[in-house]
Amino acid sequence: MREAQSTYNYKVVRQFAVMTVIWGIVGMLVGVIIAAQLVWPELNFGPWLHFGRLRPLHTNAVIFAFGGCALFATSYYVVQRTCHTRLFSDGLAAFTFWGWQLIIVLAAVTLPLGMTTGKEYAELEWPIDILITVVWVAYAVVFFGTIAKRKVTHIYVANWFYGGFILAVALLHVVNSAEIPVTLTKSYSAYAGVQDAMVQWWYGHNAVGFFLTAGFLGMMYYFVPKQAGRPVYSYRLSVVHFWALIFTYMWAGPHHLHYTALPDWTQSVGMVFSLILLAPSWGGMINGVMTLSGAWHKLRDDPILKFLITSLSFYGMSTFEGPMMSIKTVNALSHYTDWTVGHVHSGALGWVAMVSIGSVYYLLPRLFGKSEMASVKLITVHFWVATIGVVLYIASMWIAGVMQGLMWRAVNVDGTLTYSFVESVKASYPFWAIRFLGGLLFLVGMLVMAYNMFKTIAGGRSVDDARVMQPAAHHA
Ligand code: HEM
Ligand code: HEM
Repeated sequence: MREAQSTYNYKVVRQFAVMTVIWGIVGMLVGVIIAAQLVWPELNFGPWLHFGRLRPLHTNAVIFAFGGCALFATSYYVVQRTCHTRLFSDGLAAFTFWGWQLIIVLAAVTLPLGMTTGKEYAELEWPIDILITVVWVAYAVVFFGTIAKRKVTHIYVANWFYGGFILAVALLHVVNSAEIPVTLTKSYSAYAGVQDAMVQWWYGHNAVGFFLTAGFLGMMYYFVPKQAGRPVYSYRLSVVHFWALIFTYMWAGPHHLHYTALPDWTQSVGMVFSLILLAPSWGGMINGVMTLSGAWHKLRDDPILKFLITSLSFYGMSTFEGPMMSIKTVNALSHYTDWTVGHVHSGALGWVAMVSIGSVYYLLPRLFGKSEMASVKLITVHFWVATIGVVLYIASMWIAGVMQGLMWRAVNVDGTLTYSFVESVKASYPFWAIRFLGGLLFLVGMLVMAYNMFKTIAGGRSVDDARVMQPAAHHA
């Protein structure tokens, strides 16, 4: 027992890290399939594999399975290393792993069957919602329990972001999933009408802010300094960054409901807070990028650092674009168009996926007793394939989106519409084909990563004897 306490629990980190890559491939494959369905509608087979059923499967798989496993893996690693102690409970940590995998499998079965609450990013039905709550509470106990038994007084900033993410997601999930079950597989929201929409997008936007951002900023604050071999650029900025970000995000949700039945002042509040959000977002991004100051040359031949720093550039881009899109007059053009989808993926692929990929490449050799990945060259290949893929994806969606918005609003001198809706669909096909290609490239990159990962595992050993660092030694 005492022996176990003097080592880190790498097992659960290993399990989540490997599943990050596996679920990444699954989720992105479904993304490529739905992208193909938009280009070739004949690919919509039967009700189960129809676009309408596979789209939520894609979003759930990439956000909660891929992103979720990356967050579990890295948070469990970072909290142990920075607190100089083993996880609070091995049993509960194992429970979170198996519980989370069960939730993912249940999602993969129920969504194609058409079982859904109809709330975007919260589609899973009530029994699964309860399971999510139980697993999340266990996650919180493991994470905060580890913080409580830390051997250093200081709580490193990455843990603040992970902790904020865990608490906020618990709150969002419980409030937005309040529902009245009618059968085992069907429930109705506890809220009605415009309140339901408001609660849903308070949840939806904070899912972006906390599930898709705060936890990944935790990754940034640990893995960028470690990989660069430099301290965080400004510790003071990181503290301001944390409080400003979590305070501001909570109010921005109504920008998803511009020009709806939501009271106008509420929409304006959402817009104003979204504009303010640019400041903490960029403050954080600058803090991450400037961590490299004095070590820029490392970027030239370290592909892991390339992933991490490029992810920050995409983070900066999407958090500039988001506030612009929240301006009501801009939103009047962008809403309902592929511009939104482009924005989503510049955040999701460029930021979330790339920072996760960089962090997992950092972790794998350490978890499997190697000094580096089986092939560093293949990481570079992955980096370029992925970067070209993202650029093709988002550039095509921007052009398609602005074109759609302009076509829909174009009017002739007599006041009639210049284009029918179908004409805008037809004009979008070439861009959807380019998006399909970009997505396919990103998926190919993930397959290269999986090959590299299995080669590394095959040539290594599971590390279970990494000794807990003594507090007197230097940080983590
Ligand atoms: C300062 C930060 C950000 C702001 C103010 C912002 C703002 C916006 C706005 C105005 C929309 C369009 C709403 C609509 O017309 O329906 C949107 C959509 C979206 N954004 Fe962002 N964004 C930000 C950052 C991000 C990041 C970093 C990500 C991903 C990691 C992201 C993911 C999304 C998603 C998933 C949607 C689509 C929601 C849906 O309709 O299903 N956003 N965002
Ligand atoms: C190979 C990579 C990917 C491909 C090909 C892909 C493709 C797609 C497609 C075709 C859609 C539907 C767009 C529409 O309805 O018109 C979509 C939606 C979405 N994807 Fe992806 N995706 C990929 C990766 C990701 C990743 C890694 C994430 C998140 C971490 C993500 C998050 C989303 C979200 C949130 C939506 C809903 C957007 C909205 O409602 O506006 N995707 N994706």
